[in-house]
Amino acid sequence: KELIGEVAAFNATSKDEIETFRIKFLSKKGILNDLFAEFKNVAPTERKEFGQALNTLKNSAQDKVNQLKDTLENASEQLGVYGDLTQPEEPIELGSRHPISIVKNKIIDVFSRVGFTVSEGPEIEDDWHNFTALNLPEYHPARDMQDTFFIETNPDILLRTHTSSVQVRYMENHKPPIRTISPGRVFRNEDISARAHCIFHQVEGLYIDTDVSFADLKQTLLYFTKEMFGKSKIRLRPSYFPFTEPSAEVDIYWGLETETDYKITKGTGWLEIMGCGMVDPNVLKNANIDPDVYSGYAFGMGIERIAMLLYQIPDIRMFYENDVRFLEQFKSVI
Ligand code: PHE
Repeated sequence: KELIGEVAAFNATSKDEIETFRIKFLSKKGILNDLFAEFKNVAPTERKEFGQALNTLKNSAQDKVNQLKDTLENASEQLGVYGDLTQPEEPIELGSRHPISIVKNKIIDVFSRVGFTVSEGPEIEDDWHNFTALNLPEYHPARDMQDTFFIETNPDILLRTHTSSVQVRYMENHKPPIRTISPGRVFRNEDISARAHCIFHQVEGLYIDTDVSFADLKQTLLYFTKEMFGKSKIRLRPSYFPFTEPSAEVDIYWGLETETDYKITKGTGWLEIMGCGMVDPNVLKNANIDPDVYSGYAFGMGIERIAMLLYQIPDIRMFYENDVRFLEQFKSVI
């Protein structure tokens, strides 16, 4: 009876404890075998009671072992599925946006606030949209300015060298007034260095309406540089693009406060950030827009260059290496 009580009270939290219990009661040299060996010494009148007690003890010991094993297995299974539910959760790793996306979104944001829409187009272009419609007829020397990757020749199919091609497509499908910016990837057959890459990103802008003047362009540039960089001291240097007339290059005054300022501005304080100009009447004509009624301005900038300025990134190749040590630095920027 005492032993039956001991068996009933037994509990275990490990396999080892269960095994010790099993050996003690149920093994060859265990208590039960000893007691069964005693059976022949028991008086015949008590044999029935003794036998029944032994059976009860044996069954309950066997049941106990099975039951404890089951419980233990269930518990470890659940631990496998749910883990320790009392333990605090691991923090969730946050990813980061790529700096090109961050800067692209910033630029889109700045221009959206003054009514520009976002337009996109194909990266593989035909000659018309990348060159001819933009006042760059065949054999025009300015085509050499844009080291082009050709996919097919005659008729020419190529990787777009600028997103001005998207603006041609936009003009073909929309009537003025037009206010749109075209962000996207562009391709040029250039040697890769710290400052140049054969793949980069641009945002180009186009504004067409009645009575659009160079003053409107300048005001938009002032607004953009102020919003983007927090500074709006700019200068316009006369330049040449086949699709704009007059054309200009935009420099921003970055200052000469730090050593980096000296380095990136080559000691002048000024930095070129984009090209711009008044849309050439030939370009309007090519898109069936009457240049006697409408005029417009256009501008284009490289996203990498702006990002390098904003985040002081010394080498353009860092954008494409996907080194997590570089990418993780943009975790806190949205
Ligand atoms: N398309 C020119 C380039 O890729 C940039 C530009 C756009 C210049 C619009 C003037 C006007 O270099």
